[in-house]
Amino acid sequence: MSALSLSGTDLNNSEVRERLLPHCRLQAGEVWTDPEARHVVGCGDAADSEFVHRVTGANKASLLVQDPPYNVAVGERRTVAEYVDWCRRWVCVSESVMAGDATLYVWMGADQKQHFQPLPQFMTMMAETDFESRSLITLRNQRGYGTQKNWMAVRQELICYTKGSPTFHVQYTDIPKILRGYYKEVNGVVTENAERSRSDCIRPGNVWVDVQQVFYRMEENVNGCSAQKPLKAVERIVLASSNEGDTVVDLFAHSGTTLLACERLGRRCVTMDIDPIFAEIAIRRLERYRDSGKTGWQMGHPFERESEEAALGVSEQL
Ligand SMILES: C[S@@+](CC[C@H](N)C(=O)[O-])C[C@H]1O[C@@H](n2cnc3c(N)ncnc32)[C@H](O)[C@@H]1O
Repeated sequence: MSALSLSGTDLNNSEVRERLLPHCRLQAGEVWTDPEARHVVGCGDAADSEFVHRVTGANKASLLVQDPPYNVAVGERRTVAEYVDWCRRWVCVSESVMAGDATLYVWMGADQKQHFQPLPQFMTMMAETDFESRSLITLRNQRGYGTQKNWMAVRQELICYTKGSPTFHVQYTDIPKILRGYYKEVNGVVTENAERSRSDCIRPGNVWVDVQQVFYRMEENVNGCSAQKPLKAVERIVLASSNEGDTVVDLFAHSGTTLLACERLGRRCVTMDIDPIFAEIAIRRLERYRDSGKTGWQMGHPFERESEEAALGVSEQL
């Protein structure tokens, strides 16, 4: 058998999947326990309350970062109503594992060819829950598509909801403040805005223009994970909306970005994916980081070891 190379959507290919599945530690309903006793990774359905409670255990999450698939199921497409119905189920499960004071972030797509679904329908559904709406953040990608006959599509929406009074730590970008000339008198002293600031850099606000989307030349790239979110964005969320030692839940692990962010920032992550291959990739990404300090595979991929062995004829399985 030949060596395996993985790119974008290869993990939808049934032949590739058949080769990888025997190398995955978890099957549906199973849970991996971290040998360093910090995080938990499960393989199961985000809408399965019993399983999610088994994975999270007694800990309540102060932060949830959810990045569900954007209404594109493999081989079929659900109606918007079905999709939102499914979202209502995992939102309800999310709520049941949240602390009294907690924040829920949801990455949500908006299909411009289909009346921007499912973003507005999702928001309407959330308005019927007990969550408070807090922020609608747009992450601006550096590269987009459809530039000749339409506005280049560069946005990714991130919606933030809260319950109670959760932690919020102000964050700053690396972008220096350049605007001057806003004077204000405080206690009889007139100062320019830069003199009053806590940082020389601007805050991200709710339009994040300073985060590079993941592509194959970046160290954090995980080939095979086409929906991977930038570590910088997820670390910003974790830093803003949790404290060290807190439990952070992500029910849609994929490449394990939230897991890695939590490892790097001293939080405890409870995460899962319905697909054993992505649950395995998330675990391998954490292990790779612990072994080498690397955040991804750049030009390689998470199953490259088995793949090289197969190419050398060491393993019969691949
Ligand atoms: C958009 S990706 C998440 C990307 C992730 N934030 C990252 O940075 O890598 C969505 C993931 O949800 C998983 N998924 C789909 N349906 C699921 C379900 N019912 N329960 C749990 N995971 C599910 C998919 O297998 C996919 O890996």
